[in-house]
Amino acid sequence: MKPFSESCVQNRVPIIQIIKPLLMKCETVLEIGSGTGQHAVYFATEMPQLTWYTSDREQNHWGIQQWLDEAKLDNIKPPIALDVGDQQAWRDLEQSFDAIFSANTLHIMSASEVECFFAEVAAILKPQALLIVYGPFNYQGRYTSDSNARFDDWLKRQNPQSAIRDSEWLDELAKKVAMKRIQDYTMPANNRILVWQKQ
Ligand SMILES: C[S@@+](CC[C@H](N)C(=O)[O-])C[C@H]1O[C@@H](n2cnc3c(N)ncnc32)[C@H](O)[C@@H]1O
Repeated sequence: MKPFSESCVQNRVPIIQIIKPLLMKCETVLEIGSGTGQHAVYFATEMPQLTWYTSDREQNHWGIQQWLDEAKLDNIKPPIALDVGDQQAWRDLEQSFDAIFSANTLHIMSASEVECFFAEVAAILKPQALLIVYGPFNYQGRYTSDSNARFDDWLKRQNPQSAIRDSEWLDELAKKVAMKRIQDYTMPANNRILVWQKQ
């Protein structure tokens, strides 16, 4: 049976309303942590000018592939085995992208994986290209809602290395690799879309 994410169904419309204009002039987008593959199928359907590259840890590829097989879209690539902490996996990409998209991943990854994420993303983005990240974030060490505080507590009980990340820390990581935050969009359910541009 295909994996299914209810949150993807709920957030895909608000997300595309933000990312469609941002990706208007792009041809290639790499998605990191594609999960079920539902976002990829929806976004590639709605933005047929894009070639959407899916990726995730190998254990999720079977599910992504099922969504891709059913959708039969010409503009989605099969899942790339990309664990952000694996430097060789980044080297194997051998390609640069017009944009990188990732939803609900930075709070799942460990802090060291988030550091790798920024360092490696910068290396495979073309000049002026965008990194677009959706999810919950903290500001100046504070939760934006009680429900995010409860979610963070739940996350840490699943894995002590997971945590909602501070947006200022992400900006610092981005700055180290010559990327600058250019947008911060408020999204439903106490989420945000943060956008950094490679300088
Ligand atoms: C909560 S799911 C989100 C999936 C999908 N993007 C969505 O919005 O429904 C988190 C995803 O991050 C991926 N992930 C976590 N750690 C990762 C890592 N170190 N490298 C690559 N992907 C990772 C997981 O495999 C999973 O697909």
